[in-house]
Amino acid sequence: LLDLPECLQVKETSYQRLCESKNILTVNGQFPGPTIYARKGETIIVDVYNKGKSNITIHWHGVKQPRNPWSDGPEYITQCPIQPGSKFRQMLIFSDEEGTLWWHAHKEWDRATVHGAIVVYPKLGTTYPFPRPAAELTVVLGEWWKENIMLVYEQFITSGGQPIDSDAYTINGQPGDFYPCSKYETFKLEVECGKTYLLRIINAAMNEMLFFGIAEHKLTVVGTDGSYTKPLTRDFITITPGQTFDCILEANQKPGRYYMAARAYSSGVNVNFDNTTTTAIVEYKGNYDEYSSPPPLPYLPCYNDTLAAVDFSASLRSLASDDHPITVPTEVKDRLISTVSINAYPCPINGTNSTCQGPNGTRLAASMNNISFVNPSIDILEAYYYHIKGVLFGEKFPKFPPYVFNYTADVLPLRLEIPKSGTHVVMLKYNTTVELVFQGTNLVAGIDHPMHLHGFNFYTVGLGLGNFDERLDPLNYNLVDPPRQNTVAVPKRGWAAIRFKADNPGVWFLHCHFERHLTWGMKTVFIVREGDCPEEKLLPRPLDMPRC
Ligand code: C2O
Ligand code: CU
Repeated sequence: LLDLPECLQVKETSYQRLCESKNILTVNGQFPGPTIYARKGETIIVDVYNKGKSNITIHWHGVKQPRNPWSDGPEYITQCPIQPGSKFRQMLIFSDEEGTLWWHAHKEWDRATVHGAIVVYPKLGTTYPFPRPAAELTVVLGEWWKENIMLVYEQFITSGGQPIDSDAYTINGQPGDFYPCSKYETFKLEVECGKTYLLRIINAAMNEMLFFGIAEHKLTVVGTDGSYTKPLTRDFITITPGQTFDCILEANQKPGRYYMAARAYSSGVNVNFDNTTTTAIVEYKGNYDEYSSPPPLPYLPCYNDTLAAVDFSASLRSLASDDHPITVPTEVKDRLISTVSINAYPCPINGTNSTCQGPNGTRLAASMNNISFVNPSIDILEAYYYHIKGVLFGEKFPKFPPYVFNYTADVLPLRLEIPKSGTHVVMLKYNTTVELVFQGTNLVAGIDHPMHLHGFNFYTVGLGLGNFDERLDPLNYNLVDPPRQNTVAVPKRGWAAIRFKADNPGVWFLHCHFERHLTWGMKTVFIVREGDCPEEKLLPRPLDMPRC
């Protein structure tokens, strides 16, 4: 029996928030967009219709897509954008993942409003590795801008400085009680005393990591990024843009109303921190005076509490049970080390005479190994597939940082601040095992970076503060039960080491999931060559690939 394709229609819809109404880009008129449900091992066909006024692409974040980069989605990496009035049929192949993932636009800043959850259930006849919850619910954390997001983006790229901050954080599209004109729409979860609930939490925010918690309740993390974890019980979680956490909530407190809340964790030195908190309500069923007292707020760490954030990420462990085994590469062929940095160009650049609003009149940029990535004019997948030589991209992404320097030193030589710009990719042989170490620096601003890799679920075998020590740090790697993730929080002025097997041929994007850093060039591409056997080759190229 063939299932009908899912139909996603990208179009403008009018929404009212913060006392104003405006048109936003939505999928099927919904914000957040519709949830896609699948079972592990299934393949789903999705038809994406562009009924908007400008180009769009959609990415299935965390779906490994074995041999199928064609449907991955990032513009100018695996496809040209879908033009207004046209349609693109994408195939979602669910292989290893089980839990919560999500989908989002992957063109400019459109993902601000174009995103939704993906829920991957266990295969038929199997079940969760924890007691079945009374109910499940997706909790999508996001941001809201009063300004049109395309204008926000335009203003951001032409100013050379920081983007304007959003006007609210949101839970399932709602700013919550502490924002103007928002009280009656605040999202509400009804619970029954004594039952447990599975919250599938997604950080779809553009530019901020978030702390999230529920007053007087603990959260038990049981999964992240579509893989199960050992239960980790905490008062709050730290979640970067791109990450997902599956958490068990036990309704074990006095019947009443409690706030769930998310607040920015913002480790950057020069990011304007807006001290607002988005809230939703957890409400117990039963007979009590609901409105006798205001609901309590959860304890969340201070906005710049790096240690609280790092402690949380460093505590994650894979479940690694017999039913959910993991395969961590123990022998590694290649160790790549890449700095992840904020940089600055002198102003003006490339003959434009705009004034630059970065520090000291510079134009802000970002880089990996001091190369600020430039999108090519047609997508890298197409160029690679048709052997379009030379001009489109280079194959020489450096394996090591171009300079030896103390990454965390307070003052760094100015010449390091200016990155090279170019389109350089990493070429990998099929099935090699790779270790990649991200090293944060202190160039223009020391800040965390949520690094996300398409096409793989990797193991985060180590992370720490300060400089990565190639001799000593690998001795302390966790090769037994490291968390399996697709997005890792590289701590401020610290490092994170990931390992994976290059068993997925194709063209796979690697980038910081802070939208401003992505736009500034903190990204590169991994190309995994095809193997010799038929099952090591790319699937056939779809005939309806959008054209540039
Ligand atoms: Cu969540 Cu390249 O994306
Ligand atoms: Cu970043």
